[in-house]
Amino acid sequence: MLRLVVMISGSGSNLQAIIDAIEKKHLKAKIVAVVSNRRKAYGLERAQKHGIDSVYFPLKPYKDEGKSREEYDADLAQAVELYRPDLIVLAGWMHILSPAFLDKFPKQVINLHPALPGEFDGTNAIERAFIAGQEGTIKYTGIMVHYAIPEVDAGDVVIQAHIPILPKETLDQFKNRMHRIEHRLIVQAIALFTEPYLT
Ligand code: GRF
Repeated sequence: MLRLVVMISGSGSNLQAIIDAIEKKHLKAKIVAVVSNRRKAYGLERAQKHGIDSVYFPLKPYKDEGKSREEYDADLAQAVELYRPDLIVLAGWMHILSPAFLDKFPKQVINLHPALPGEFDGTNAIERAFIAGQEGTIKYTGIMVHYAIPEVDAGDVVIQAHIPILPKETLDQFKNRMHRIEHRLIVQAIALFTEPYLT
């Protein structure tokens, strides 16, 4: 069974989509841990509600002790490694991971980002796409799951969806549409990794 570690920083609606797909037997995988860098991330509650190990791993103590980001990333990698993950899913994880983390899990870390390759990288991608759509500079945007590399929201694409801009749509309607598609895409992306583990 594919062993997943899901890393979050916020609400965890994508984590919930993975949990639901597994519980409905639409996805043959097991979430062995949920990791958050924020104590208040609602996604930690979602994990606890479903009996999934949750790990709170804040950066602040490292900063307070004058330790580097690389030290944090190296210790984070050790904590994650304990769960023997086959695949690490960044679902709203809002820290940039350095090679001190990524090099420990080559081609095993995937990231969900609500934009097409090379467009709107970084935060607030959905809002920025909405504005560009309203201005008429783009006719469609997208969502991708890609291998995480040190460069933000770059890395080879695992799967992507093209999403048309709808002229009369409000920002909230657009956001809801994007998140609904994210929830499907993240499950489809993970399913691409389950084949070798279908024992
Ligand atoms: C999603 O839009 C994801 O693409 C972005 O952060 C958001 C996380 O949402 N990286 P949630 O915490 O899964 O609800």
